[in-house]
Amino acid sequence: MIVKPSLSLKTLPPDLDRDRLPQHVAVIMDGNGRWAKRKGMPRIMGHQQGVNVLKDLLRCCKDWGIPALTVYAFSTENWGRPTQEVEFLMMLFEQVLRRELAEMMTENVRIRFVGNLAALPESLQGQIAQSMEDTRDNQDVAFTVATNYGGRQEILQACRAIAQKVQAGEIEAENIDESVFESHLYTHELANPDLLIRTSGEMRISNFLLWQLAYAEIYVTQTPWPEFDREEFHQALINYQNRERRFGKVGKRL
Ligand code: IPE
Ligand code: IPE
Ligand code: MG
Repeated sequence: MIVKPSLSLKTLPPDLDRDRLPQHVAVIMDGNGRWAKRKGMPRIMGHQQGVNVLKDLLRCCKDWGIPALTVYAFSTENWGRPTQEVEFLMMLFEQVLRRELAEMMTENVRIRFVGNLAALPESLQGQIAQSMEDTRDNQDVAFTVATNYGGRQEILQACRAIAQKVQAGEIEAENIDESVFESHLYTHELANPDLLIRTSGEMRISNFLLWQLAYAEIYVTQTPWPEFDREEFHQALINYQNRERRFGKVGKRL
């Protein structure tokens, strides 16, 4: 099962304003299991197909000039799934990473992983370290994969790190501001997402980027992740460009 990039959307669709594209898109890739079940296949087939979709979205970000993409691949809560599914996902992450590294180099993609990586299988950790090291100078797309990621866990580890610095006398408690706090998050090298896309209809954040999404525009599509394509992404971007981002102020349209 291979998804071919639809050639008509190879370049940025003309109804999108190049100057107002989101600079960072975050995606909750949901609905793999339900998609597979509807087709009478085991859930893992949905994850397998989801990889093809992700590859094309990453290429699309490069083709359309969107410089940062962050995806939710595995949450801290996903350990609660059947062992077989968890083991399949870990194997899939490692296999895909090994297989796609060369293409990320030619496509000039920098890959980063965020989350509690130390709890992942050791061979996967090795592959993650290798891919982050090899791609560190690539500049076209900053591609971040949240793996064993939980927003609450990320905030807690930042609190612990800051508390330790206060205890050691390196920071004064009253000097802890938003920028100090952000610098202790896994995402410290990235700007906050402008747009969050969630596939498969659920209207929730599921512990993703709790701090970073404070002012993201949220777009939910009913389409399950294994069917998300460039046309779906196009629709999400049109919807985004029709929003007025007010950041708490009074809007221009009023
Ligand atoms: C998202 O799809 C992928 C992961 C969480 C790894 P799901 O596996 O959650 O699919 P549904 O939501 O059960 O259909
Ligand atoms: C969120 O999806 C996690 C990922 C996409 C990796 P879930 O399927 O785990 O979220 P819930 O259970 O519907 O909240
Ligand atoms: Mg789900």
